[in-house]
Amino acid sequence: MAKPDPGLVFAGSSTVAASTRRLPSRIVQALVQRWRILHALGFEPLSATPRHPSAMSTKTPIRVAVTGAAGQIGYSLLPRIASGDVFGADQPIILQMVEIPVEKAMQALEGVAMELDDCAFPLLHGMELTSDPNEGFKDANWCLLVGSKPRGPGMERGDLIRENGPIFTGQGMAINDNAASDVRVAVVGNPCNTNCLIAMNSAHDVPDERFSAMTRLDQNRAQAQLAARADVATTAVCNTLIWGNHSATQVPDYKNTTIDGRSAAEVIGDLDWLQGDFFKTVQQRGAAIIKARGLSSATSAANGLIDHVRDLVNATPEGEWRSVCVPSDGSYGVSEGLISSFPVRSMGDGSWEIVQGLELDEFLRGRLEATVAELEEERELVSDLLVNAG
Ligand code: NAD
Ligand code: LMR
Repeated sequence: MAKPDPGLVFAGSSTVAASTRRLPSRIVQALVQRWRILHALGFEPLSATPRHPSAMSTKTPIRVAVTGAAGQIGYSLLPRIASGDVFGADQPIILQMVEIPVEKAMQALEGVAMELDDCAFPLLHGMELTSDPNEGFKDANWCLLVGSKPRGPGMERGDLIRENGPIFTGQGMAINDNAASDVRVAVVGNPCNTNCLIAMNSAHDVPDERFSAMTRLDQNRAQAQLAARADVATTAVCNTLIWGNHSATQVPDYKNTTIDGRSAAEVIGDLDWLQGDFFKTVQQRGAAIIKARGLSSATSAANGLIDHVRDLVNATPEGEWRSVCVPSDGSYGVSEGLISSFPVRSMGDGSWEIVQGLELDEFLRGRLEATVAELEEERELVSDLLVNAG
């Protein structure tokens, strides 16, 4: 009996094969059909097939699963992962791209994969396209959970909670059962803090500290606003800090953020602006983009995720921190177990710590309490989804 075509990746019933993307679709269908028959007859599915066998890196490829890979953020994110922006210029990657089992989404995903192929990225050693999270997360070292519904005009991110929350139960379980033993998870799909909490609680065997959610976009937004106001380059703004929820209650910290080494509050010298326009602009930036584009942020969100993961896999320079939503240990009065944005230092070996000892003024303390109260409310709203909650 003929062996299945090398390079034909079988990854679930509604999946198309990664290496068949250049072929006309009727041939693709025929190959998929043939593979299904072979599979039914006992052939095991193939894992990702090396696409660049002659690539020079001697490192073992890492597997990066991305959900919502055919969506807006996915479109900006995937080429940057494949080009080495996250894991380094010598780290080969296998992309495991997960979408919903709907023909339109899978077809769009096929198109995304064709474009990635057409970039001939030397580091991209394989692609798997699937609608089955168990396949998608198989042996994944990183799972980037983007796939979910974005909000529309007039909505708050929290309004998505009952619709998007259940996605993260199934995905948490699939990560638990299939991912690599060193898996790390970053959640972007909104409301990302509470979705991360759901995924973490659904992945019983994965240590909690492997889960994070993204406020790096908010950090970058705040950094850009402060730089513009102080009329300095963005590089002059350091340790830009967001506390709490990725929502309209988030707390951009003007006190501990520095501009040219001094507190941003001191350099800007205008507390009314910092507590007023600055706060509002950062908190409402997502809504402003939705209003302007008719769609939520995508390029900047993908860029935020690139920064988020890259900074977690590398050691944070001495004296610096990054805004990362991680499980609270009770630091700064944030209820234990909530996924909240904190100043975080990465050790570069996969571990991280919450930076201690920062001081907040009365205004910032009050705002931190409010954003924590919102996170508690969100946790309450999804208590039925927190299957492993203590
Ligand atoms: P999009 O609608 O363009 O794409 C989402 C994709 O996810 C779609 O292709 C959809 O088919 C897919 N999807 C839906 N459910 C899925 C599932 N269960 N498994 C796999 N794929 C699934 O949306 P987008 O603009 O890419 O945004 C995605 C999410 O990211 C939204 O929830 C959005 O609000 C959020 N977001 C978060 C931040 C942040 O800073 N945390 C920033 C921007 C956007
Ligand atoms: C953002 O901050 O841009 C995203 O969370 C999308 C949104 O809904 O605002």
